[in-house]
Amino acid sequence: MANLSADFIGIKSPNPFWLASAPPTDKKYNVERAFEAGWGGVVWKTLGSEGPPVVNVNGPRYGAIWGADRRLLGLNNIELITDRPLEVNLQEIKEVKRKWRDRAMVISLMVPCDEDSWKDILHRIEDTEADGVELNFGCPHGMAERGMGSAVGQVPEYIEMVTRWVKKHSRMPCIVKLTPNITNILGPAEAAKRGGADAVSLINTINSITSVNLDSFSPEPMIDGKGTHGGYCGPAVKPIAMNMVAEIARSAETRGLPISGIGGITTWRDAAEFMALGAGNVQVCTAAMTYGFKIVQEMISGLSQYLDEKQLGLNDLVGRAVPNVTDWQYLNLNYVAKAHIDQDACIKCGRCYAACEDTSHQAISMSANRVFEVMDDECVACNLCVNVCPVDNCITMVPMAKGEVDPRTGTKVGDYANWTTHPNNPSVRAAE
Ligand SMILES: Cc1cc2nc3c(=O)[nH]c(=O)nc-3n(C[C@H](O)[C@H](O)[C@H](O)COP(=O)(O)O)c2cc1C
Ligand code: SF4
Ligand code: SF4
Repeated sequence: MANLSADFIGIKSPNPFWLASAPPTDKKYNVERAFEAGWGGVVWKTLGSEGPPVVNVNGPRYGAIWGADRRLLGLNNIELITDRPLEVNLQEIKEVKRKWRDRAMVISLMVPCDEDSWKDILHRIEDTEADGVELNFGCPHGMAERGMGSAVGQVPEYIEMVTRWVKKHSRMPCIVKLTPNITNILGPAEAAKRGGADAVSLINTINSITSVNLDSFSPEPMIDGKGTHGGYCGPAVKPIAMNMVAEIARSAETRGLPISGIGGITTWRDAAEFMALGAGNVQVCTAAMTYGFKIVQEMISGLSQYLDEKQLGLNDLVGRAVPNVTDWQYLNLNYVAKAHIDQDACIKCGRCYAACEDTSHQAISMSANRVFEVMDDECVACNLCVNVCPVDNCITMVPMAKGEVDPRTGTKVGDYANWTTHPNNPSVRAAE
């Protein structure tokens, strides 16, 4: 079994799988059972300032999107930060950390945007012996209206300022949790780095309305006839999260800034993909809420087996895909592939034909007895047929060898050449 022990910004855990700040981590009862199941660490549900506890709605707080088999694809919530008294949370954090010394215990924080509030809460959490803090600059509902959460996370200057306060008033490692509700993730990530953050974590949830009730004409979840936008998470957000992680990992300004990857992680493979894109560890919420704490066991055994097969250490995986993430203009325009249909696997449903005929390049023929074949002289290798085919691996993309003639264009497959040197590029023509 590969060694999965992880050291993320000096915070050690037996594996890189942490539970993200959310209901799975909001009390001792949950966190202890999570640790028993094998989770390497937790980010405790976000704590706020001392005072009257936060008030949540007393009706449905979740909405969802499902696949055809009713598998949960996306979850939407309108929950706020912890609604339990600060003192109770602090006592429980202390008790759990004392009992589970080998697990990572990070405390998520969100308090008003003034130095005294941050100084005060940092002072309050000091004797919990927690391993670090995560600054929740991401919550998109409820707290943002009060000038916290994503209201801070959307303004790089505020991120930098608050991170500086935290570093000034605490010796703990500081992770800044970023909101995806922004046009360019690099602004907030750079601000966190400038403020002295030890790491960033992302993503928090995405502003969303998952459905509208067409009888009551209210967004759901519906509270007494009204709805509001909530935070979207789960498998549906994984592609958005991975792109943002990769952007931070490959940008010259933020390269090397440790990243905790979050967003739709459900299996060991999801986790490995985030890590290959530069995440030093991962955090999980929706998958644990959907399937329970024991899903971590599949993550541990799967990642371990994968690393063994590839003969890689955990740290070898981190960032391994980053050099292969590039801008469109550097893709090889001389790479040519063609779709190929495996006739033995084909169930003759015709979906590839409909897709290619109606919306792509009319490159699939259908015979009278429903044999579907790709016409290489029309196929542009767009991959649409692969993605609509219901049979896994029935249609594959086969690259052509260098020197072969592409029957569609009549030209030979050549060496690597990209848009920056392409004769159709106006800037190349202007330079000539
Ligand atoms: C019900 C619910 C409550 C959440 N509460 C918090 C919170 O208090 N603090 C926080 O930083 N993130 C919170 N999150 C966001 C998660 O920590 C995580 O960033 C997000 O759900 C994406 O991960 P996932 O796709 O694995 O769920 C919450 C998410 C859910 C579903
Ligand atoms: S790859 Fe695109 S163009 Fe080629 S057969 Fe499939 S859908 Fe048609
Ligand atoms: S979509 Fe797949 S299974 Fe259906 S006809 Fe095309 S190749 Fe065959």
